[in-house]
Amino acid sequence: MDTFARYQQLKQEINFHLYRYHVLDAPVISDAEYDKLWNEFKALEAAHPNWVTPDSPSQRAGAVVSDKFEKVRHPRPILSLANAFGAADARAWYERIRKIDDRVEQAKFTVEPKIDGLSVVLHYRGGVFAQGATRGDGEIGEDITANLRTVRAIPLQIPVSSGQYSVSSTQKSETNIGQLSFLGNVSEENRQLPIPKTLVIRGEVFINNKDFEAMNTRLAEAGEKTYLNPRNSAAGSLRQLDPAITASRPLTILVYQVVYWEDEAGRQPPMAQSETLAWLKALGFPVSAAARTFDNLDEAIAYTETWDKRRDELGYEIDGMVIKLDDLRLADELGFVGKDPRGAVAFKFPAREVTTTLLNIEVEVGRTGVLTPRAALEAVEIGGVVVRNATLHNFDYIAEKDIRIGDRVLVKRAGEVIPYVIGPVVDARSGAEMAYIPPQACPACGQPVEHFEGEVAWYCVNAACPAQLVRNLEHYVSRGAMDISGLGVKIVEQLISAGLVRDVADLYTLTREQLLNLEGFADKKADNLLAAIADSKSRPLNRLITALGIHGVGEVAAADLAKHFGALDALAAATPADLEAIEGFGPNTAASIVDWFARPANQNLLAKLKAAGVWPVASQYPVTSNQSAALAGMTFVVTGTLPTLSREGVKEFIESHGGKVTDSVSKKTSYLVLGENPGSKHDKALALGVPVLDEAALRKLAAE
Ligand code: IVH
Repeated sequence: MDTFARYQQLKQEINFHLYRYHVLDAPVISDAEYDKLWNEFKALEAAHPNWVTPDSPSQRAGAVVSDKFEKVRHPRPILSLANAFGAADARAWYERIRKIDDRVEQAKFTVEPKIDGLSVVLHYRGGVFAQGATRGDGEIGEDITANLRTVRAIPLQIPVSSGQYSVSSTQKSETNIGQLSFLGNVSEENRQLPIPKTLVIRGEVFINNKDFEAMNTRLAEAGEKTYLNPRNSAAGSLRQLDPAITASRPLTILVYQVVYWEDEAGRQPPMAQSETLAWLKALGFPVSAAARTFDNLDEAIAYTETWDKRRDELGYEIDGMVIKLDDLRLADELGFVGKDPRGAVAFKFPAREVTTTLLNIEVEVGRTGVLTPRAALEAVEIGGVVVRNATLHNFDYIAEKDIRIGDRVLVKRAGEVIPYVIGPVVDARSGAEMAYIPPQACPACGQPVEHFEGEVAWYCVNAACPAQLVRNLEHYVSRGAMDISGLGVKIVEQLISAGLVRDVADLYTLTREQLLNLEGFADKKADNLLAAIADSKSRPLNRLITALGIHGVGEVAAADLAKHFGALDALAAATPADLEAIEGFGPNTAASIVDWFARPANQNLLAKLKAAGVWPVASQYPVTSNQSAALAGMTFVVTGTLPTLSREGVKEFIESHGGKVTDSVSKKTSYLVLGENPGSKHDKALALGVPVLDEAALRKLAAE
């Protein structure tokens, strides 16, 4: 083979591997093998500069654009979409177009994700990527060819072919968008993909959520400006004058439309949306794997609605789904209203991010004394819920994002996640915003706050802090700890505000008369509560250790300590070295335990507990819960009440041994962990033949 032929072969192979990696997400060679091809290719280009053409993979990061982008007139208007908010709107759209043309009644519909990115227009001449533009005003866009060339998922040459590799395997469709019926009934191998002389297509450039997070972390570490969300960063990245910067950003693309087609041989473009997607895919373009075609609107709507809940599965942001008439000729004939084609509609999902004003930053004191900043917001609706508060994570987060009081902030509320402040809209600042200084003292008790090595949080370490007392009691009585039923938050607050309880030990000296004086207490309620409190004295040692709420000591660590020391006196006398000798205990936890027992307030508490008869010795279960990987690769579902571990505790236990806990039983579930009064999960596990364990058997499995 002469060197030029070798050069051409390498070019084709490199393009193919870029396609496997960036479009299919399924590389067939290692990075090292790729580097070898690349080095050989670059050496040939260095020796023969006249061979280098714009579609060479080496030309992805080109020259800096002087000061602004050139204008490009689009060959056809780049249209927008009318919105539908819900199924009723989508049906109204259907009715409107059915009245115009009754062929709509027989129509099929293709549904695709509506990607929250930037519309771009790609020109191919003779199968080579020649120009790329932004949407602009729909008539004229900006020439961002050099930047688009850096997007590895955009083929510089179509079709992407395989060189020595088999292409056909790459073209097996994972979706039902797989039939190229417009090409007629030809065999797979003989199927010639028509590529017109001039082809202009449209797609959406965006950044996958994971890549966005990694990129922002990288930018923050380099001390550079971070972006608020993937869309802003995709926009910012595409508009860089230096393509080298764009090249460093993880942009990708999905394409969905043929805008323009010009072919000397008179061949026609695909006339159905499903076929367009199949054809684009076969040429090597990335198309959405979530696109589906349906026989009627009801099915299309049903499919669309499933994605509202599933949107996070896509790995990129969408703001809805697009429902398109599959018959593109019919869609074309229906025309448009303003800039919106009648043949498609954007079925919008509720926004998950909104901007509002940050009125104040409030600080809450948690059970363990951790101080958490919380945003007080101007009330705003997000996805049907009015949001007034949002988490700011921690004080470092506020500083890193430079969040100021009075800022317009972007707030996100997605699914079950607690609303959080993403960051400030810096461009909306008036100058009146105020930088935030974290408190030096606990807002509830005024004692100085402390910082633990290796943690971002600040703590109030005053055991008598009133804000902590409520949470301390809540924790003490909770199921995974002393499990005192009938002691809900309301009663806890009542007991504290009546001055009856100043620490958890005071629970044990409560009298019937005292309780009867409280609002809402009659004989029975008072007796039941006293009985439940008395009953808690028989809880095993590990439960009491958990209940003390020592920083860094959850149910699993508490069980280890109970097993190791056997009694509280021994634990109280432990040195850091004694504690660090236990597997799974590092210096931070050891220091935290020693610190807890050294505090006079806590020593006083222990004395009171002992006097009250709350002084158990080692737990009834042999605990072998040091960190291990005995449960690695296994998935557990828990149902019913276990003898010693709470719901959180069993999760912690399983995870600390490398296992995973999920909510619902499936064929993939390794074991069902069964307690008393199980739910329907037990029936399901039996039906699917999932093996069942009790707590003792789970502990045994973890110890193996
Ligand atoms: S079709 C005639 N399909 O949404 C074709 N648009 O709100 C009209 N978009 O301007 C567009 N994903 O930038 C279409 N799968 C998709 C899309 C999509 C995102 C964007 C596009 C459009 C905007 C309209």
